Amino acid sequence: MLRTHTCGELRLTDAGKQVTLCGWVQRVRDMGAMAFIDLRDRYGITQLFLDKDPKKSFSAKLTTIGREYVLQVTGTVKERESKNLNMPTGEVEIIVSEFEILNESETPPFTIEEHTDGGDDLRMKYRYLDLRRANVRANLQLRHKVAQQTRTFLDSKEFIEVETPVLIKSTPEGARDFVVPSRMNKGEFYALPQSPQTFKQLLMVSGFDRYYQIVKCFRDEDLRADRQPEFTQIDCEMSFVEQEDVLNMFEGLVKHLFKNVKGIDIKELPRITYADAMKQYGSDKPDTRFEMKFVELNEVVKGKNFKVFDEAELVVGICAKGCAEYTRKQLDELTDFVKRPQIGATGLVYARVNADGSIKSSVDKFYDEAALRQWAEAFNTQPGDLILVLAGKADKTRKALNELRLELGSRLGLRDKNTFSCLWVVDFPLLEFNEEEGRYFAMHHPFTAPKPDDIHLLDENKLGEVRANAYDMVINGVEIGGGSVRIFNKELQGKMFGILGFTEEEAQKQFGFLMNAFQYGAPPHAGIAFGFDRLCSLFGGADSIRDFIAFPKNNSGRDTMIDAPSTIDSKQIRDLGIEVL
Ligand code: AMO
Repeated sequence: MLRTHTCGELRLTDAGKQVTLCGWVQRVRDMGAMAFIDLRDRYGITQLFLDKDPKKSFSAKLTTIGREYVLQVTGTVKERESKNLNMPTGEVEIIVSEFEILNESETPPFTIEEHTDGGDDLRMKYRYLDLRRANVRANLQLRHKVAQQTRTFLDSKEFIEVETPVLIKSTPEGARDFVVPSRMNKGEFYALPQSPQTFKQLLMVSGFDRYYQIVKCFRDEDLRADRQPEFTQIDCEMSFVEQEDVLNMFEGLVKHLFKNVKGIDIKELPRITYADAMKQYGSDKPDTRFEMKFVELNEVVKGKNFKVFDEAELVVGICAKGCAEYTRKQLDELTDFVKRPQIGATGLVYARVNADGSIKSSVDKFYDEAALRQWAEAFNTQPGDLILVLAGKADKTRKALNELRLELGSRLGLRDKNTFSCLWVVDFPLLEFNEEEGRYFAMHHPFTAPKPDDIHLLDENKLGEVRANAYDMVINGVEIGGGSVRIFNKELQGKMFGILGFTEEEAQKQFGFLMNAFQYGAPPHAGIAFGFDRLCSLFGGADSIRDFIAFPKNNSGRDTMIDAPSTIDSKQIRDLGIEVL
């Protein structure tokens, strides 16, 4: 080994020891006759003291070093005169006697400090330097811990980790596939898995009983803070189970992770149906760190000649506690917020419940104090509260109010990153109508089983009403995981493909392998997959998953460090038998 200790481990108790350290130069402070260097490695930073006496063999070298040079130093541990108690090693320094430059460094394009001067693009281009920053490295250490604890838990429950192939045939899960041309089979393509869904079901047919895999998945979709084109799932499947068993097992996993990674005890997860989540929060991934549930007002507000409310399919609002004193400017801001094209509300109605109990609204012309009192009753307000109301088509209005609720939650400081609110959303609809394509799509995926009580609705052509045995785990308004009980019967699976618009030949061509497998004794099975990157960023208190991925892509799906995607040479293209436009 080139070192006896790391830069993070020496303490006062080590004083007097002769040690050798290796690391990168964080900072040089030249004081004339002497110099201090902060030497950094993965474990921490240790202060070096160097006497610049020209007689010392290293004095000449000392003048040449700069930030990020790689050094090997030998010296004696000594108690510091001025201690830095903010650092674990801050009570000691090394009196350097030997000094070796192991490698030089260009001046880095940004400071390698927690608060760096490097912008996002620069940091991504030089990600290997960004990863030297302690806070970024800590994110990846957290990720390692989450993976390890996941394996510990699932192993203790008899789950077996099995790797499934990356070059596969397309699995339809809503996003576009990334495809890979095959040189040996010209004109044919592999697809990269959007998830190992069909393989894990095949493993159940094979009798593996309990499978998991921490696995890369690939989806060619528009990117956001919580979406990457390649991301990682904790993918799981179980045989001979019902929905209840899966929910209990994976509630156990999440509790284990919170306990062992964050030291937090999570209580039993509440469950809410999809229908209630939409009604109460306007979202299938409600942020339940705060209440502010929707109150529907159709019964209360209609028939007072206010056209906007009279003509609306739904009038619905929220109560912002203690916000009656919002200024005109603040209310205008909220109105502008809901009127943004992405949110699409036509306006915002408000009513202030003043401290003296009087109520004033933005629609006083139509609603007198007695009428407004009915609003207040519906919201169970207290003096000082502010009622905010939207109206319009039901789905659109709920979605807009969800955005407003979240915005207010943030403004009021109700979305603290160190508070965790987990829940299950259950009973998702099986199918979702796509207006553009004029047909139903599977809301989760085509292998999801309808609720047995709702199967008759499939035959009665009430497709939109069929509920699925499908569930999501939601934490702090983020969809952390999702899964379902699977169809394991060939006939029902065939029927589903029919409903989804596949002809028998198409279904056979795309999924023949699965349907054939189901003929050989498929067990009842169910599963779930967690978004591993999302789970890590949630534990790390971050909004974006990017900082929890060692080498992420930017918002255009590019890796600017290695410059991918990139063109390939014409010989490669010829070999693959593809044409490039
Ligand atoms: P689903 O599509 O819901 O289910 O994905 C499971 C979880 O993966 C995470 N996730 C993502 N994370 C980062 N970037 C993305 N682009 C991305 N897309 C999804 C989410 C999500 O909850 N095969 C099924 C699971 C099953 O039925 O067992 C599946 O993939 O956190």
